[in-house]
Amino acid sequence: MTYSRIAGTGRYLPEKILTNADLEKIVDTTAEWIKTRTGVERRHCCAPDQTTSDMCVEAAKIAIDDAGINLSDIDMVVIGTTTPDLIFPNIATLVQHRLGIPACIAFSLEAACTGFIYALTTADKFIKADEAKCVLVIGAECLTKLVDWNDRNTCVLFGDGAGAVILKPSEKPGIISCHLGADGQYKDLLYYPVGPSKDLHKAGTDEVAIIMAGKEVFKVAVNMLGKVATQALESSGISKDELDWLIPHQANIRIIQATAKRLKIPMEKVVLTVQDHGNTSAASVPMALDVAVRDGRVKRDQLVLMEAFGGGFTWGSVLMRF
Ligand code: ACO
Repeated sequence: MTYSRIAGTGRYLPEKILTNADLEKIVDTTAEWIKTRTGVERRHCCAPDQTTSDMCVEAAKIAIDDAGINLSDIDMVVIGTTTPDLIFPNIATLVQHRLGIPACIAFSLEAACTGFIYALTTADKFIKADEAKCVLVIGAECLTKLVDWNDRNTCVLFGDGAGAVILKPSEKPGIISCHLGADGQYKDLLYYPVGPSKDLHKAGTDEVAIIMAGKEVFKVAVNMLGKVATQALESSGISKDELDWLIPHQANIRIIQATAKRLKIPMEKVVLTVQDHGNTSAASVPMALDVAVRDGRVKRDQLVLMEAFGGGFTWGSVLMRF
């Protein structure tokens, strides 16, 4: 049996930092409200001419270097994002070409904030099926280009960034289990109201921005993140006490705390980046992983549970030995 295992990680955050104090000057809010209600203290924002693929390329270079591989080793690129540069060609082809990776399988998928977990799960299946030997997996997003900067309910939440990993075959896990789920009955609680086949001409105008029913999203998120984590542990016969790290989607500190409490996992075992990154959607989990690997918290062979939840709703988890 072939398993897949992460061989390297990387992240990229845009230079521009927007603090809560900066937001006080833009909308009717206070730095204290944002910190206590969301946990966010600062977020990085793309420059106007900076795209999601720009961020992917930088994060990927670091992950490739960390894994000690050659560009020609990579035979698949998969990117989870809801904010690609173009409708087509897909962003993975742009990133493959810009990095100088020889022609290979390259595609993107969209599962909102669960995009990286969906992408990593897909890469795991390709490796297990012996269809790929070295996969560049990225979660990347620039949601700050989609928010209404007059809407204090949403503009304080989001940030931009990209997180990348290299996934390779391994004789031992590696990835132990993946669980994905989705239910479109919740589509009206969190969405962006235009797209390629619907009212595209309104994109980027004041008329459209992210629409979110915050309280309802909060409740379902805590419930689903608890369920998908329990499913991951139970299906693998691993107890929560054996877990070294929980790396949840970084949407709101209170969602993370409520989920950890429900799972009875102490906050000391939870990786938090929401204070520095805000909610970076598909980028949040791989960036948090990279932060914790580079600061020495997540070590080789430790048990790590990553999980995410996003618009759709979509949700998912990956349980792995790093
Ligand atoms: N500054 C000051 N006051 C604010 C702000 C702000 N930035 N935003 C909202 N408020 C006000 C509201 O208008 C409301 O005022 P009112 O009582 O006079 O009507 C009051 O604060 C309380 O609003 P609530 O919605 O009850 O605040 P809540 O404690 O629920 O926090 C929040 C709001 C932060 C949005 C929370 O519900 C949340 O985090 N929900 C989940 C959001 C989320 O995670 N979305 C993404 C998940 S999936 C994905 O990542 C794509």
